[in-house]
Amino acid sequence: MGMGFLTAGGKCFCMDDGPGVSPAASMDRLAARIAACTLCPLSLSRTRTVPGEGPVPSPLVFIGEAPGKTEDKTGRPFVGRAGTILTGLLADCGLLRGEVFITSIVKCRPPGNRAPKRDEIAACMPYLKAQIALLSPRVLVPMGRSATMTLFDLYGIPFPSFREVRGHAHAVRDDRSGRGMTIIPVYHPAVITHNPPARQDLESDFRKLAAFIRSSPGDRK
Ligand code: URA
Repeated sequence: MGMGFLTAGGKCFCMDDGPGVSPAASMDRLAARIAACTLCPLSLSRTRTVPGEGPVPSPLVFIGEAPGKTEDKTGRPFVGRAGTILTGLLADCGLLRGEVFITSIVKCRPPGNRAPKRDEIAACMPYLKAQIALLSPRVLVPMGRSATMTLFDLYGIPFPSFREVRGHAHAVRDDRSGRGMTIIPVYHPAVITHNPPARQDLESDFRKLAAFIRSSPGDRK
């Protein structure tokens, strides 16, 4: 069965690569499609697209807001200052960076590191949806308010405020596959670069995430 997604331009692109094509190979094809994307104005200012990286499929998927300067230069997610912080937080959870899939809600750097606009996020959503379908995750970890709001909107969960939902497990069901998943929002690692006292909250979120992962091993299909 194919998986079709509507792009913001109204065109349908399908991740139906046919029988015998692995999710990893489909993810590579999706990355090539992202590299050629011109659906929003961020395509005019980017150096490289940053589709994300990690194992495919992956039980754990971390989702940031948007690539920064170093990511734009290298084409890899979370390799700048926020990436160093994220790698440390993952290690505190007993996880290696290479064991999880890491991406962002938009795949191109907004100029001057401004927040992505609503229409830019909307234009990029089909890519995130396709990635989630190929990754079959058990746990989605949106990092920061913007990624959390976007995922809550995608799965139709009420979003009272970031403060109220962060550090808690939210069960959702993926409409297309019928699979159960859990969303656990955490602070964005970059928060401590402009608000050092937030480190406690950031570390507390990741401790809760680690406790959840330890308490629910195995497939939660
Ligand atoms: N912040 C993000 O949200 N994504 C990146 O890739 C880097 C920093």
